[in-house]
Amino acid sequence: MKKLLLSLTLLCASLAYGQRDPKMDAFIDDLMSKMTLDEKLGQLNLASGGVPGVVGAAVGQDEAIRKGYLSATGGMDPAATQKAQEIAVKESRLGIPLLIGLDVIHGYKTIFPIPLAISCSWNPELIRKSARIAAEEASAFGINWFYSPMVDIARDARWGRIAEGSGEDPWWGSEIAKAMVKGYQGDDLSAPNTVMACVKHYALYGASEAGRDYNTVDMSRVAMYNYYLPPYKAAAEAGAGSFMSSFNVVDGIPATGNRWLLTDVLRDQWKFDGFVVSDAGSVGEMTAHGMGDLQQVAALALKAGLDMDMGANAFIWTLKKSLDEGKVTRQEIDQACRRILEAKYKLGLFDNPYQYTDPERQKKALSPEYLQTARELAGESIVLLKNDRQILPLQKTGKIAVIGPMGNTRGELFGTWVMLREEAPARSIFEAVKEVVGDRAEVVYAQGSNLTEEPMLLAQTGKNTTPTETLIEQALETAKDADVIVATVGEPSGWSGEARSRSDIGLPECQKALLKALHDTGKPVVVAIMSGRPLTLSWENERFDAILEAWHGGTMAGYALADVLFGDRVPSGKLTATFPQSVGQLPLYYNSLNTGRPYRADFWATTKYLDITNDPVYPFGYGLSYTTFDYSDIQLDRAVASGGSGTINATVKVTNTGTRTGDEIVQLYIGDPVASISRPVRELKNFRRITLKPGETQGVTFRITTADLKFYNSELEHVWEPGEFNVCIGPNSRDVKTAKINWTK
Ligand code: BGC
Ligand code: BGC
Repeated sequence: MKKLLLSLTLLCASLAYGQRDPKMDAFIDDLMSKMTLDEKLGQLNLASGGVPGVVGAAVGQDEAIRKGYLSATGGMDPAATQKAQEIAVKESRLGIPLLIGLDVIHGYKTIFPIPLAISCSWNPELIRKSARIAAEEASAFGINWFYSPMVDIARDARWGRIAEGSGEDPWWGSEIAKAMVKGYQGDDLSAPNTVMACVKHYALYGASEAGRDYNTVDMSRVAMYNYYLPPYKAAAEAGAGSFMSSFNVVDGIPATGNRWLLTDVLRDQWKFDGFVVSDAGSVGEMTAHGMGDLQQVAALALKAGLDMDMGANAFIWTLKKSLDEGKVTRQEIDQACRRILEAKYKLGLFDNPYQYTDPERQKKALSPEYLQTARELAGESIVLLKNDRQILPLQKTGKIAVIGPMGNTRGELFGTWVMLREEAPARSIFEAVKEVVGDRAEVVYAQGSNLTEEPMLLAQTGKNTTPTETLIEQALETAKDADVIVATVGEPSGWSGEARSRSDIGLPECQKALLKALHDTGKPVVVAIMSGRPLTLSWENERFDAILEAWHGGTMAGYALADVLFGDRVPSGKLTATFPQSVGQLPLYYNSLNTGRPYRADFWATTKYLDITNDPVYPFGYGLSYTTFDYSDIQLDRAVASGGSGTINATVKVTNTGTRTGDEIVQLYIGDPVASISRPVRELKNFRRITLKPGETQGVTFRITTADLKFYNSELEHVWEPGEFNVCIGPNSRDVKTAKINWTK
């Protein structure tokens, strides 16, 4: 009888998990039958490089690994990583290998632009390739697990971590999430050159109130399902091996201990079958959230569906006691342990625990081929915001003055999360411009201003040695007989990323003073901005003819900008996050709902401010080229479709009306003006990249199906509702052509 029950339970479990690998199950059954409770709890413990104080006396990391108290560790130092793995395999009782994790966010040694930047390339294949290269490099140095991709939707540029994600759009964010998972994990997770993805931060972390990091999130389920959850779901469906819980609360319960989130949605609805790790210390932080003492919060997290505790030592310290007291069950511990062992199995670690350290493959790091891909992606990420009087591209002649505090630094162009970056192959903007023009032009440089003179920001940046006034005088002297000025301004790497929120997202006053002085020379000025977030640029947009957003472009940032400045690359990037006029407008995003009183300038009581319009400076999807494109009206093959299998083809003709060959990112949006819940004015559904020669015209056809009409209704069902829709096609989310269609039952 007992046996029958057991096999029934096993059957149900295997059905619930979908396709199982019987060989893996048998291997792990056998392994777990030999494990003590302490060893099982050890598998639930990640201590990143530190020394966990384990049950009673604190022990060093080596001893913790030997005793089986550690499942995973950080991969900062390849030699230490290799040693740790050897101890785990050779000196622990059962020889269970370690997961070696690292925050490889936009490259390991070859650093690509920050994620926000690469999302502006609208090139999923190149994005996948960058993820592939990161995995190729890191997996040769012992690393088998990336804490990436970060897929948090962000609508508030105050939040410093907007740099780490793909901007504000759920559809595009989902496409990138899939490309990243595919790039990291490849087709075979057990291959030595693939690593396991960890999708973070689950969930809604990007909606931290007022852009303050770690802050409260409070959101309706309808908003979660329609706008914030899709990229996590897409990553899960793409086969991501692990997820990381976020720091914030969801429905008042910290994500790390939120059973609805970690089990009902992630596992039951989305069928995710990997494991979930906490964010660094987030199990312990549940105490500060008001969820009880360490023992209580650890039990809560385990029961919610969290499998691994990163950095809090809460599982390893308290779960044994909770088991004795009946506060958690043996099955719950076994379940988490099994999921983690499965990940190790899938990575091939039990077959060859050392396959992720390979001196031969290490030699390929920073190879010319990788650096070339980084240069290409950095170039494609640059967004041309303004180019009046065709100041750009520049000629490689005469005298060019590179002026500004971002112009002669290599390090500050890398962006956030670049622990293992190497500056040798990088060039500053000044260095790269000099190299690219060779002896055809004279290139000079002056710093021009400090990065900031704000006391609190200075604490991030380091003390100033020269007042900006003096720097401006020197710069004007340097630029005196220059033909053109490239003003290199913005944020250094350390002003965005984790715990790097800003309340004012404009250029600091001293940098604006420099820009003003350069403007007053009457010379042509190109403003090149490096930043980790959208900035408020009204003042700059009003005064300057040429503005480029170059973000933090990684190792090849300097070269990539030089390529664009001189037209060796024609810019094609388009923004994935709205650039507001003012912080007071935040959150500002293109896929907003209509209100009952949509903005009207001529009526006093509509959705607006007294002192400013609702317009962004640059909308979502926006970006210019060195050529110009004209869009025809939309042509439909039919205006009415019916049923779930109906389709409508919508076509625009795009013409290159300028004088250069260029790429255009043609965007499809759909609006649903009548539905059972209020729907956004329009939502991105697809895009197409086309290359057009001067004078060339190309038809671009989007095939619309009911999949493009679906949304989550009040019951959280994914449905489309018959009725009228607006099909919008254009070069950005604002300047679109619109056609009405009808979709009947
Ligand atoms: C961050 C995560 C990161 C983790 C491990 C946390 O503070 O929120 O994004 O993966 O640290 O370094
Ligand atoms: C206001 C209410 C007011 C009503 C009647 C509305 O526009 O929102 O507060 O009571 O007018 O005057």
